[in-house]
Amino acid sequence: MSLTLATPALVTVSEQRVNSASSPLSSNIKVQVQRFWQESPCDSWFTNEPRGTAGFYRSLDEHRYKVHPRLQSAVGFEKTRGWRVLEIGCGCGSEAERFVRAGAHYTAIDLTNAAVSITRRRFQLANLEGRFVQGDAENMPFPDGSFDFVYSHGVLHHTPDTPRAIREIYRVLSPGGRAVIMLYYRQSFNYYVNLGIVRRLRAHLLRTELGIKLSRAIFGETEQDLRRHAELIRKDPGFYLEMRNMLNRNTDGPDNPLSQVFSKSSAQQMFRQFKNVKTEVMFWNPNWLPVIGKLLPHSIEDRLASRWGWHLWIFAQKRHLEFTRPREISCPEHLSANNAPVLAEALVN
Ligand SMILES: C[S@@+](CC[C@H](N)C(=O)[O-])C[C@H]1O[C@@H](n2cnc3c(N)ncnc32)[C@H](O)[C@@H]1O
Repeated sequence: MSLTLATPALVTVSEQRVNSASSPLSSNIKVQVQRFWQESPCDSWFTNEPRGTAGFYRSLDEHRYKVHPRLQSAVGFEKTRGWRVLEIGCGCGSEAERFVRAGAHYTAIDLTNAAVSITRRRFQLANLEGRFVQGDAENMPFPDGSFDFVYSHGVLHHTPDTPRAIREIYRVLSPGGRAVIMLYYRQSFNYYVNLGIVRRLRAHLLRTELGIKLSRAIFGETEQDLRRHAELIRKDPGFYLEMRNMLNRNTDGPDNPLSQVFSKSSAQQMFRQFKNVKTEVMFWNPNWLPVIGKLLPHSIEDRLASRWGWHLWIFAQKRHLEFTRPREISCPEHLSANNAPVLAEALVN
């Protein structure tokens, strides 16, 4: 593939647009979400390499695909050659680079300038072409039908109105276009056992210095994060232990303002406009089983991941023709009006 120097466009949507979610409360949450990810761009904490260097991107990617061994095959980069690909929430751009190397025409949208700049810098270093937009998944500044493939990994559970973002994905996809979306999974070991029981018990441990040291040894989290958890617990123990708050604080760092979890049936409901909706569960973190977790063979980890894993992948396709209401169909003479909906479905599939 011949590579040309990137001259990506950055479109910065106004604060008003970023804040235009359905209610003042969710707007306020979205501002907090934006602030949080602006200050700690996803994955950037996994490396000590200086940000924006080739070593930074290399070490992030090595870490990412070691921890998520099934991610690349699940996305299926090779099939995106020539496709208009939109990634929502590009983070540090690991998949972005792989889409372009596979021959896709790549666009990223992210709520933060941090993620957009880090991914744009990656493209500049590697002489890759892409388009970068700072904006909101719930109100995307793209015309209807402008993409063949929409990908989003670990993003839409952080936005207040996830169903609205899914409707936006449907709108910007071309007929027959595909979506691959990863959301946190409710029926998982992490949600029910790790967050619901283990982390709640750990909260009590974090009240003492000895407990903080013990937690550091058992859970492998940084001392800084553990001390921040301890501070939050002291401030309001009742609130800290609420499940919604446990989920926010214990998924992407103690100051993460919003995470949500979804069941397979809620995913099917959100994607009901689409056809061929399939779900798959992936990702197992050995730290969820203190002491024995790291001793388990990969084959067992894989089985745990596919049943009790944390990542719910949703694969879906936009219908080729919009569903047409019966009265709008011009019925062939031999079909009664009662048969019309059947005809409409047949056209769609
Ligand atoms: C957990 S990171 C995931 C990044 C990347 N996809 C990955 O897997 O590493 C979440 C990202 O989603 C972005 N994000 C959150 N809400 C968003 C929204 N409403 N619209 C666009 N991006 C959003 C954040 O700015 C952040 O970069």
